[in-house]
Amino acid sequence: MHLLFILQQNIGMKLLGIAGSLRKASLNLKLLKNATALAKEQGAEVEIFDLNPIPLYNQDIEDKEFPDSVKELREKIASVDGLLIASPEYNHSIPGVLKNAIDWASRPPKTPFWGKPCAIFGASNGGFGTVRGQIALRTTLTALNVSLIAQPQFHLSFADGAFDENGNLKENERSEQLGKLIEKLLEIIQKSK
Ligand SMILES: Cc1cc2nc3c(=O)[nH]c(=O)nc-3n(C[C@H](O)[C@H](O)[C@H](O)COP(=O)(O)O)c2cc1C
Repeated sequence: MHLLFILQQNIGMKLLGIAGSLRKASLNLKLLKNATALAKEQGAEVEIFDLNPIPLYNQDIEDKEFPDSVKELREKIASVDGLLIASPEYNHSIPGVLKNAIDWASRPPKTPFWGKPCAIFGASNGGFGTVRGQIALRTTLTALNVSLIAQPQFHLSFADGAFDENGNLKENERSEQLGKLIEKLLEIIQKSK
């Protein structure tokens, strides 16, 4: 009954997923795909945006015109109800590729991030599960008035052993925790409508 109610409420809701790692075997991309499946179970539609084509930020380029890939990123963010961002922690902070994409999307005339509900989460091989990277990511997204989920938080430590051969989280408990974060995101979107 509860799940059916959630599903009915969230039908038609659109999310954009972004992974802060470009590598094919990214643990964070796997985690994002798990989150995508959980969001779909709860009735939402999710598209994953690949950051590979986003060039390095350069104001000289911006002064002429946003590159097509940046235009697409900005339009996609603007068109969805909420965001899912799964990111590794690099040197206790945000990976350059993700920060670069956020910087491009933050630029005027109208940043599509403003007020956008967003769940952040991350996977790391170490024991801290991106705790420090997420603090840095929160700081940056707060500057853009992104509506971040305060709690629950989701940190996947020792992530190299956390997925099965199909890329699914092995432990149900972890999957349930991630599902709770998605549920909260969808609830906040619903309330903001
Ligand atoms: C440049 C660089 C810096 C890193 N710094 C950290 C770090 O500060 N903390 C951490 O837990 N892992 C760190 N790692 C290890 C990453 O957690 C690990 O490579 C992870 O698998 C990257 O995410 P991905 O699998 O989604 O690509 C770092 C890796 C790289 C390449």
